[in-house]
Amino acid sequence: MKKAELSPIAWKEGVVLILNQTLLPDRLEYIEATSPERVAEAIKKMEIRGAPAIGVAAALGIALAAYHSKASSVNELRKELLKASDILWKTRPTARNLFWAIERMKSIFLRDFPDVDSLKTAVINEALKILEEDIEINKKIGRNGAQLIEDGDTILTHCNAGALATAGYGTALGVIRAAVEEGKKIKVIATETRPLLQGARLTCFELVYEGIDVTLITDNMVGYVISKGLVDKIIVGADRILRDGHVINKIGTYTIACVASIHKIPFYVAAPLSTFDLKTSVENVVIENRDPSEVTTIRGVRIAPEGVKVLNPAFDITPPDKVSAIITEKGIVYPPYEENIKKLFE
Ligand code: MRU
Repeated sequence: MKKAELSPIAWKEGVVLILNQTLLPDRLEYIEATSPERVAEAIKKMEIRGAPAIGVAAALGIALAAYHSKASSVNELRKELLKASDILWKTRPTARNLFWAIERMKSIFLRDFPDVDSLKTAVINEALKILEEDIEINKKIGRNGAQLIEDGDTILTHCNAGALATAGYGTALGVIRAAVEEGKKIKVIATETRPLLQGARLTCFELVYEGIDVTLITDNMVGYVISKGLVDKIIVGADRILRDGHVINKIGTYTIACVASIHKIPFYVAAPLSTFDLKTSVENVVIENRDPSEVTTIRGVRIAPEGVKVLNPAFDITPPDKVSAIITEKGIVYPPYEENIKKLFE
């Protein structure tokens, strides 16, 4: 029997249930957030993470502000929702989906409403719609991407672009899930993904949980594993995709794409349209720099001397010439990206 799917985030009558991903794979514990501030804290601390998931969390955070508001006028409530949006906006800078979700919520709550209750209902319904749509979109990405996967393939993935990084099903792992559901025999190689180990802790957790064949490697084994012919395809997710096909994703993605290109292994990116940013140019992308302690420690244990200098960029940028195709809910996009990404949005 198929196991119940992991639910990283849910809404239950004025409470946002967030699976605390910092505790995985040791403990399955849900945070019960009742304020946008608590949701913002969860995003910052990466208790919830992954581009689509933090977009969904931000939308539900705004829904919490609406649900618990004591405002007596539409204007007063709108001010509270703007404040909540602002707090959530400032949590993490790189994933486009966060800003996409907040902008979508704003486009609802800045409309005219006859009374406070109708505004509250519209805001909560929109957030739930974003959550439900995300799962459907991922299933479409999965079905589209599964066409690229052959029976017997070994697929390397980086970080976690699975159910845990979305509202459910996943993007890169969604493609793998869909291929497995079609009856294809698939093996996965997961990179551990330092510094926060999303590959080891989350991707391996999801795949082991579902009985999909997975092998864990450390990040520095990628070159060896690919050069030995142990990988047929690479699929990763994305935090932001620019109009010319630059892909911003977890630190280490660029290195993998370079090795894949040298060895002529297809490098696929799976992401929803809400990850695309048609406005920002590559030099203006903000790459999040996180706390040095994430590098000097592993799960609380110090591994480097006190006082050492540290770099901790959370994401890197893969240029379009290293990307074989981008898998979206509207189909698979091939180069030339500038032209074909534009068509996606027409
Ligand atoms: O820092 P994280 O864990 O939020 O980074 C996540 C990633 O880089 C994922 O690959 C990306 O968000 C795609 S998730 C479907």
